[in-house]
Amino acid sequence: MKIGLIGYGTIGCGVAELLLEKRRHPNLELVKIADIDLERKRDFMPDKSLFTTDAFEILNDPEIDTVIELMGGIEPARSYILSAFANGKDVVTANKALLSSCWKEIMEKANSCKRRIRFEASVAGGIPLLSAVFSGLGANKIEAVYGIINGTTNYILTRMEKTKESFSNALAEAQKKGYAEACPSFDIDGIDTAHKIAILASLCFGKTSPVSSIYTEGIRRITHFDISCAAELGYSIKLLGISRMDKDRLSIRVHPTMLKKEHMLSSVSDVYNAVYIKPDLTGPLLFFGRGAGRYPTASAIYADLLALKRGEEFCIPEVEMVEPINITEITSKYYIRVQAEDMPGVLAMISGVLAENNVSIASCIQKERGKAVPIIMITHEAREGAIVSSLSKIDKSPFIKEESLKIRIEEI
Ligand code: HSE
Repeated sequence: MKIGLIGYGTIGCGVAELLLEKRRHPNLELVKIADIDLERKRDFMPDKSLFTTDAFEILNDPEIDTVIELMGGIEPARSYILSAFANGKDVVTANKALLSSCWKEIMEKANSCKRRIRFEASVAGGIPLLSAVFSGLGANKIEAVYGIINGTTNYILTRMEKTKESFSNALAEAQKKGYAEACPSFDIDGIDTAHKIAILASLCFGKTSPVSSIYTEGIRRITHFDISCAAELGYSIKLLGISRMDKDRLSIRVHPTMLKKEHMLSSVSDVYNAVYIKPDLTGPLLFFGRGAGRYPTASAIYADLLALKRGEEFCIPEVEMVEPINITEITSKYYIRVQAEDMPGVLAMISGVLAENNVSIASCIQKERGKAVPIIMITHEAREGAIVSSLSKIDKSPFIKEESLKIRIEEI
């Protein structure tokens, strides 16, 4: 196998180091590396002769049969991958943004050119999750998948819980450690998780949704106060990517979620990823490990190269693009935080609006006294549409001091 690597960042360095030094495999030969910036200092610098700034020196090289794409982003990665297939090369990529946006086009091009693509590193980094879903769980019908698949947000939520650190300090720490996406919004607004859950749904259900149709809510509005109230009530708060089949309809969404403290996903802390899958034959499974970073991700890429070398391919099922169940149609229990003036009648107003919308309250706590106080409520099972209508009416009251927050409670 003669390999060309496009994109020489942290992961690219890890892959090159494995191929050229650490795991040297006689049949996997890295022959060219392309990156537009060859001046930047890297901690693994092979011989200069391997480098080029022109990706087409790889794409047009008839000697190279396998291209590793590690640039990220949509363009020019998309064009490079399509051109690699057209030129008879197989592809290994970690590009979740591209796969989730252009799945159909990429798979159709691979099929029409009789080429193969592998993308183990695109979801949950070092955890061999996609291979497990494809091969290990081949006999199963998967009912649901719940994933902590963004290390940065998990790290931030963990730090906020343990050290009471502010959201922005915790984010800065995660960035320093090199886990965060180039654009922090991709992590903290849940976009990276949406990309990954879209890919997971394709493999688990043969159905997925365009990223623009996936309900995506990040962790910006979660405060240390919410995390400690949740803990007192017996819950943790995690950013989850969730996908499941509800009869014949796909439910796929990303949002902060309250989980019972005893659930295994609740104990997944720091940058770790974990994916909880419910296949019908095996029963629930939990995959746990490092979802980002140089060596875990390079390990997944190297494994894909070995699989191609063995002649294996993902039998990519025909994936149907569907509109998911609208978020307003789901039902859940909710944690609600309302910031209200502390005076007689305010709680009656809030509970009155919830009652009008048929939302039943399971418990209510008011922690402080003063001008504006947080009122925390847990509801019984309710329709999201009813919660949204209630909160929008409550928030219009002159007694309410800021937009109310809701967190869905999942019982999995
Ligand atoms: N930013 C991602 C994360 C990196 O935090 O998990 C790996 O996809």
